[in-house]
Amino acid sequence: MSQTRIKARTKAIFPGSFDPITLGHQDIVERLSLVFPEVLVLVADSTSKNYWFSTEERVQLVKQVVGHIKNVKVESFKGLTVDFVESHSPAVLVRSLRGAGDLDYEKVLADANRLLSPSVETIFMLSRHPFTGIASSLVKEISKNGGSLKKFVPPVVERALKLKSQSRA
Ligand code: COA
Repeated sequence: MSQTRIKARTKAIFPGSFDPITLGHQDIVERLSLVFPEVLVLVADSTSKNYWFSTEERVQLVKQVVGHIKNVKVESFKGLTVDFVESHSPAVLVRSLRGAGDLDYEKVLADANRLLSPSVETIFMLSRHPFTGIASSLVKEISKNGGSLKKFVPPVVERALKLKSQSRA
């Protein structure tokens, strides 16, 4: 049996690229905030990814979308996610699954994270209708082609995407 216990004060740490945050991510954060005493949204600051938005821009957008929820905090990080989670113990690493297609990738990530840090538990929250068809790359594709993003991202993100698309054109 695992030695990890979910304690009443266990934090949910929800890492991701959030390039940009979508209505799907927002729904997960809101639901996590009802289950856990504290939710930390962790914006990856990775040099290996070609992000549209800088780390600071992604953090600011996440803060504008979920920063008003009183038990939600937003931070960025460099390095291994499990190291961050371990240093914030008691905490669990949360990932979301939009469907079976996400599972293989998430299982590889969770298995690797367990080898790196056996004490860190990964738990999954299922995305729900109507958010299961949303992905940040799709949102950027729609934005580049001038489509409506109302059903995909909050208005503040739609505005940021419009400006970013224009500056990248
Ligand atoms: N709603 C909408 N979209 C969702 C979603 C949801 N509920 N859940 C996931 N997604 C989408 C994202 O929008 C993104 O879409 P895209 O591929 O079209 O851009 C996709 O799922 C995956 O994004 P994300 O969750 O941000 O994962 P990622 O693979 O970009 O990054 C990290 C994952 C940052 C958590 C991971 O790489 C990491 O931990 N990096 C730090 C270094 C580390 O520890 N690596 C692991 C070593 S084993």
